[in-house]
Amino acid sequence: MIDIHSHIIPGIDDGPATLAQSKSLLQAAIAQGTTFMMSTSHMTPGVYPNSPQKIRTHFEKLMANLGDIKDQIQLACSAEVRVGPEMIPLVERNEIPWLGELDGNKVILLELPHTHVPLEAKNIIRWLITRGIRPLIAHPERNAEIMRVHRRSHELADLGCLFQVTSASLYGASGPHSNRSADRLAKDGLIYVIASDAHNTDYRPPGIEAGYRAVERIVGASKAADMVFEHPWLITQSHFSHVESPDVVV
Ligand SMILES: [Fe+2]
Repeated sequence: MIDIHSHIIPGIDDGPATLAQSKSLLQAAIAQGTTFMMSTSHMTPGVYPNSPQKIRTHFEKLMANLGDIKDQIQLACSAEVRVGPEMIPLVERNEIPWLGELDGNKVILLELPHTHVPLEAKNIIRWLITRGIRPLIAHPERNAEIMRVHRRSHELADLGCLFQVTSASLYGASGPHSNRSADRLAKDGLIYVIASDAHNTDYRPPGIEAGYRAVERIVGASKAADMVFEHPWLITQSHFSHVESPDVVV
């Protein structure tokens, strides 16, 4: 399975604090069948003010210290970008750590505020789309406004957003509200990708198998498989150019 949202770099956001914790997280991901994993550290101004350069430097340092773990899982580096005006110059200079590409468009893993869907966010999303950039919204099912007003998700989809739902939301480990919201997104055909959003091995663990099995009961085997194999591969394959054929991932 291909996990396109995770926090594995130690010490730069609310993911692992130490190299040992990063290694434990990656070993748990491998044990649960994750074969490809995108590192998506937070870029949240004022909270986790990570620049693309800082994230890249720390990712390379992590890779240099992983030992044989690197042989068991394919890793690449992107970021989870909080929507806001600070991202605009980075987009204009093409300095965003893109998650990948889809149908000729760049894809950004875009995080909304947790409380609501601001008008400003919609305006930035429109601006991104006019520039040929496709937002993949990180865990919309955990946004309080989308939980309360489900049609907000359709409004974002109508703008051109894709959705990444977090595995734990689908099997209820993040509470009943995000579980209900995730199920509604599944029923409405709005989930493009399932990811772990792993931060640690305790309460925000790696692995997407449980969410995959949960969504399978709602959308069926074929569409569920698309969410953990086909779709994440379509977006991220350019990061894994040394892998000759996507067949190896299924
Ligand atoms: Fe995240």
